[in-house]
Amino acid sequence: MAIRGQINFPGDKSISHRALMLAALCKGKSRISNLSTGEDIRSTRRCLDACGIAIHDKADGVTVHGGSFSDPPSPLNCGNSGTTARMLLGLLAGKGINATVVGDNSLTSRPMERVMTPLEKMGLKTERNNETLPVKIKKSQLSGIEYHLPVPSAQVKSAVILAGLGVQSETSVRESIPTRNHTELMLQALNADISIHGDTITVSGGKPLSRFAMKIPGDPSTAAFFAAAAAVVPKSRIMLRGISLNPTRTGFFSTLQQMGGNIEYFERSKMSGETVGDFEIRSTALRSVQLNRHEIPRLIDEIPALAVVATQANGVTEIRGASELRFKECDRIEAICCNLKNMGVQIEEFEDGFAIEGPCHLKGTAIKTFGDHRIAMAFSIAGLIAEGETKLDDRDCTAVSFPGFFAALEGIRE
Ligand code: S3P
Repeated sequence: MAIRGQINFPGDKSISHRALMLAALCKGKSRISNLSTGEDIRSTRRCLDACGIAIHDKADGVTVHGGSFSDPPSPLNCGNSGTTARMLLGLLAGKGINATVVGDNSLTSRPMERVMTPLEKMGLKTERNNETLPVKIKKSQLSGIEYHLPVPSAQVKSAVILAGLGVQSETSVRESIPTRNHTELMLQALNADISIHGDTITVSGGKPLSRFAMKIPGDPSTAAFFAAAAAVVPKSRIMLRGISLNPTRTGFFSTLQQMGGNIEYFERSKMSGETVGDFEIRSTALRSVQLNRHEIPRLIDEIPALAVVATQANGVTEIRGASELRFKECDRIEAICCNLKNMGVQIEEFEDGFAIEGPCHLKGTAIKTFGDHRIAMAFSIAGLIAEGETKLDDRDCTAVSFPGFFAALEGIRE
């Protein structure tokens, strides 16, 4: 079996959340095409709809009637989506909305303190019992702050920026390690009052945002699983088309190249401030790599895929400074280590990462996905090169980011 063919991916999940939320802020009808098909985007859509923002399906995407928010009649259910919950809290705080934000069991166990701290500093009044959802926010008079992010987090950065858009005075956010910058790029493309100097982003509100039309580039985090498949299955060659090549998101691909991976880039263009391109990946011999905390945000969501690739690389791959993985849809360090161990891999677990000794012959086994879409996808790729059957305890969770995952994988198996 080899991996052959080409794939066009649905829109990037991070950019889709932002496109919907920013369109909600813009007065009038915005058009968004190639929106992510994942459940997480449905969560954002459902929550905005409950806040009075009408979103309609059209043949070529969706239209968003933005500009006027209202208090939702019942709690806003963000499902499994951390990006929805955290960014929405910032957006609604800036709009003076009264709301209660809730989520599923996984989201309810994830930290919200990181976003509530800066929002409360801005003056947001809240009701909450602990550091997790549910959180109740109340219409409050906000003022601008200067905030230095204690953990690299694009969700928190974006929440503060969105809240800052609802305030006349300046709000600035500083990040020591760069994280994905889609919110900033979109706001620049929309001519918002935003400036970026070095590691500091400053915004202020008061300038009305105009409606826009946007096509969302393909999701590099989803593409990474297919790139990983082509990298590790012998005699493979796959073309991935229309993918976001935003440098804050391409860490997986540059790491794969560092490991000896064969990647060739083709056409690049710009879409609403985002770089988009096609690239081809072929299987080759791979060598190990070492990553530290400075490199993690550029590939945070791709680490499960990278762990699978590392099992086929010559030498010890060590990933450190990645303790944020413990706070994702599941504890991804634990999920990666326990499943790879069960597949026969020599893996050492650290508080902030792991070390994998490769190359290793994988044994098919029962995979515990912990209901996490990226764990399910990563171990489906591991299953392609494992001897014997690899069986996931939950295939449906892949719908959180890519409902078409298994069909797309089937389509490129030769
Ligand atoms: C995201 C940011 C990252 C990432 C998540 C999506 C975003 O989370 O892991 O899947 O769209 O801003 P953090 O901001 O918590 O690092």
